[in-house]
Amino acid sequence: MERIYFDNAATTALDPAVLDTMLPYMTEKFGNPSSIYSYGRESRLGVENARKSVAKILNANPGEIFFTSGGTESTNTAINAAIRDLGCRHIISSPIEHHATLHTVEHVYCRDEIRLSWVKLLPDGHVDMEDLRRLLAESKERTLVTLMHANNEIGNLLDIHAVGNLCKEFDAIFHSDTVQTVGHYPFDLRNTPVHFINGAGHKFHGPKGVGILYINENVKIHPYLMGGSQERNMRAGTENLYGIVGFAKALEMATENHEQHSTYINDLRMYMAEQLEQHIPGVGFNGDLKGRSLYTVLSVSFPKTEKSEMLLFNLDINGICASGGSACTSGADAGSHVIRALSSDPNRIAVRFSFSHTNTKAEVDTVVTKLKELI
Ligand SMILES: Cc1ncc(COP(=O)(O)O)c(C=O)c1O
Repeated sequence: MERIYFDNAATTALDPAVLDTMLPYMTEKFGNPSSIYSYGRESRLGVENARKSVAKILNANPGEIFFTSGGTESTNTAINAAIRDLGCRHIISSPIEHHATLHTVEHVYCRDEIRLSWVKLLPDGHVDMEDLRRLLAESKERTLVTLMHANNEIGNLLDIHAVGNLCKEFDAIFHSDTVQTVGHYPFDLRNTPVHFINGAGHKFHGPKGVGILYINENVKIHPYLMGGSQERNMRAGTENLYGIVGFAKALEMATENHEQHSTYINDLRMYMAEQLEQHIPGVGFNGDLKGRSLYTVLSVSFPKTEKSEMLLFNLDINGICASGGSACTSGADAGSHVIRALSSDPNRIAVRFSFSHTNTKAEVDTVVTKLKELI
């Protein structure tokens, strides 16, 4: 059976050209980047060229880019550093963040006895900026604001400049989880008021287990992982050499193809939304589909029936891969904290379809036809 993969917000397939770039670093160029002889120097060059390339694409200094194991580690580093090193005693976040953020802020809230506030959300899932201003204005302590750039479940996009400027006004530290947008949108970090952002290679056809943390040069923090002096003493542990080289190559390709791919993927998503509206009675969409929204994600709300409750399972039996909850828990659907935070209607079920440039309209047609049968 041909499978249809509509879960690209969970992870993407490695691009063969990215693999080709990585392979020499798995075989002949295997040296430890910390070694001083030729093998080591060759590997070091691979890491530093990757850093330069990533920094150039994001318009940052190479000294502001740190390679990590992925989005989760980067977020943990930023949030812990804001409390421990930057004097933040109050965190403002939202209930629809990824668990990498939610569980980290809840952990530091309990451990360090700091204050934790949840910003209000508007009915379409966007952050209520007036409430954010109020929370910041009322905060007597230095504050960390951690809000994601694009929501991985419903696709809503944050106005990162507006939030950053508000944080600046109140001298707050701003971390944005950009895992769903790095590799999908152009960034201009030199002109973006943000202290920390992160990225994960596997979200844009790069390898898994490698990511970045951007630390604005004006903030000075201590490392999260202790050990060797890798990453300029900021992230100990032998570098994931082929991962890092693959991350940079995938980001270069994503950047080169951005215009073409983003238009293509958005058309595919809107085509699927249109087809669903035409063919499935009672269908709806979570988030701000026609407004500020990530072009890869379509979060569909179906009326709950005995049949639709088994939808993800039945889609899987038919070779269709989609997700019911957050990317990282797909498969064992424990319900979605994001959907719960936005709607208390127990009579709807949410399925996230997420696309890449390798998907086609024919696949959308097949999935819509199958959904008609399954709903
Ligand atoms: C928005 C968001 N943040 C963080 C993560 C975690 O990234 P990683 O799996 O690379 O640690 C994910 C992955 O699903 C994500 O979608």
